[in-house]
Amino acid sequence: SKRNLILAFESSCDETSVAVIEDGHQILSNIVATQIKSHQRFGGVVPEVASRHHIEEITICIKDALAEANVTYDDLDAVAVTYGPGLVGALLIGVTAAKTVAFAHNLPLIPVNHMAGHIYAARYVEPIEFPAMALLVSGGHTELVYMPAENQFEIIGETRDDAAGEAYDKVGRVMGVNYPAGKTVDEWAHQGHDTFNFPRAMDKDDNFDFSFSGLKSAFINTTHHADQVGETLDKHDLAASFQQAVVDVLADKTLRALKQYPVHQLILAGGVAANHGLRERLDAELAAVPGTRLVKAPLKLCGDNAAMIGAFAEVAYRHQVFADATLNADPSLEF
Ligand code: KG4
Ligand code: ZN
Repeated sequence: SKRNLILAFESSCDETSVAVIEDGHQILSNIVATQIKSHQRFGGVVPEVASRHHIEEITICIKDALAEANVTYDDLDAVAVTYGPGLVGALLIGVTAAKTVAFAHNLPLIPVNHMAGHIYAARYVEPIEFPAMALLVSGGHTELVYMPAENQFEIIGETRDDAAGEAYDKVGRVMGVNYPAGKTVDEWAHQGHDTFNFPRAMDKDDNFDFSFSGLKSAFINTTHHADQVGETLDKHDLAASFQQAVVDVLADKTLRALKQYPVHQLILAGGVAANHGLRERLDAELAAVPGTRLVKAPLKLCGDNAAMIGAFAEVAYRHQVFADATLNADPSLEF
């Protein structure tokens, strides 16, 4: 039977990405133009700067994605695009580009939720088996998502304040690490020890929610106090202590959720899913949960990219979830 080819777009934050995906699980191309350097001197993503970069990059990304996949517009079955959540100006560039291609080449347009995309990056490891649970950890979100079927998402727990990635970026900034700080803090953590014993907020509470703002404050207070008394703290131990607190809470709440919602797979996805401490901890914990396999999004597909959007788009395509030219960006889109 004929292969299904989807041209997928992602532009919700600071990566412009276009991919060509075959049958939802084979990457023919996945072009990612990152803008991180342009945002670093501001210490975070500047929305207006992001939009401008997306405009400059997107047509180049389309051209490269088609060329690398060795396909033309005529070979495509559909166009897919992230329409939320994210920065409205950034999202609009991808949405407008996707609409234009769909209209010009008479292709169906598939609207994709960015967070569903993150979860479906797991498809590049193995087929998703339902029911499944996702621990979705990124710069903007930290949530446990129960999926009874391939097109159903139920948030059973989420952060009440900061996202895990946001906390990484903030404590990284305090230690003088460039945005985004997660990867460096992760590397430092592996060279240190949990000597500070920071708080594990809500860890023992009987729910699936998270809170990271108290941890962030405890970290800042500790470093601030040290500065005042002229003491130098070991950055590796600080990082290790912070990471241990984050990983403890994420792992404990996830295991609690798996007891109430037995699933075939636990999917670890989102930018923070690249964290080695978290990957190792869940590997160890899940080995003791019979019937549930841990599926970690591939390291290269944890951060924002269009391949993950194409992976979920194939599901939407089969369910005939299509949009027309009135599709708009939805910065606070929820499942
Ligand atoms: O999913 P993502 O690429 O963008 C959003 O949709 O938010 O996630 C970016 C976040 C940033 O906060 C970054 O610091 C964090 O993921 N991150 C990490 C690691 N790599 C990236 N956090 C902890 N450990 C890592 N290895
Ligand atoms: Zn993301």
